[in-house]
Amino acid sequence: MRILFLGDVVGGAAIDLVVCRAKVLRATHQLDAIVVNAENAAAGSGLVPSQFRALTLAGIDLITLGDHALRKREIVPILESDPRICRPANLAPQCPGRNFALVTLPSGVRLAAFTVLGRTFMKPAECPIEAIDRLLQQLQPLADVVLVDLHAEATAEKQLLARHLDGKVAMALGTHTHVPTADACIMPKGTAFQTDIGMCGPHDGVLGRQTEAVMRSARTGMTEPWPLATGDMRLHGTIVEADPSTGLARSIEPFSERAP
Ligand SMILES: [Fe+2]
Ligand SMILES: [Fe+2]
Repeated sequence: MRILFLGDVVGGAAIDLVVCRAKVLRATHQLDAIVVNAENAAAGSGLVPSQFRALTLAGIDLITLGDHALRKREIVPILESDPRICRPANLAPQCPGRNFALVTLPSGVRLAAFTVLGRTFMKPAECPIEAIDRLLQQLQPLADVVLVDLHAEATAEKQLLARHLDGKVAMALGTHTHVPTADACIMPKGTAFQTDIGMCGPHDGVLGRQTEAVMRSARTGMTEPWPLATGDMRLHGTIVEADPSTGLARSIEPFSERAP
């Protein structure tokens, strides 16, 4: 089976682009499922219910989030009730929302996804390795194919977490830094890995934000809102071919597309 994972969707225009391309991508790339990290959908931080509905109506199978998961409180009832979306698994136990997402595809294959946050250069989170072990145990009887979203800043931390996951899941794919890395591979025990799969959104800026505002903040040391950039819309992600009978990967192929 072929699964496309799209990296951090930045802003409403990028949500619209994902929604408008989903059907075509599914057909062109013979996809069985599309998973999206939507942590930056709501003007760059968080996800709102109308965007969740637009993505799922467009056929997006599962949605992951990241360190911005709870920026929009109105998403909480959906996080608590809809099995197709999850907040990061290593947040505080009292944090609202499910810690994994799960769907049964038309083929009968049960696809699960969960996110762990890194702890290097990021806000405090619980141990991602312990969270991974806990989730894998929980998912063992529930899922045939598992995608782990490694939402972290440091490349070494992502590689370390991926090595821990090798041979245990189909794919360990990095998000959060918004820049795709050139290291897509199948690790020795059969798990597909890429340090970062990139972002979906405006690339004429700094990680999706307007260059001028980010530059002013850098030069003056004063904080100000950073509006989203607008130009050079692109979708970035990775397509993994997974074998549901083993739960491991057969191939990995980075995906990139410019808006027409
Ligand atoms: Fe992000
Ligand atoms: Fe993030």
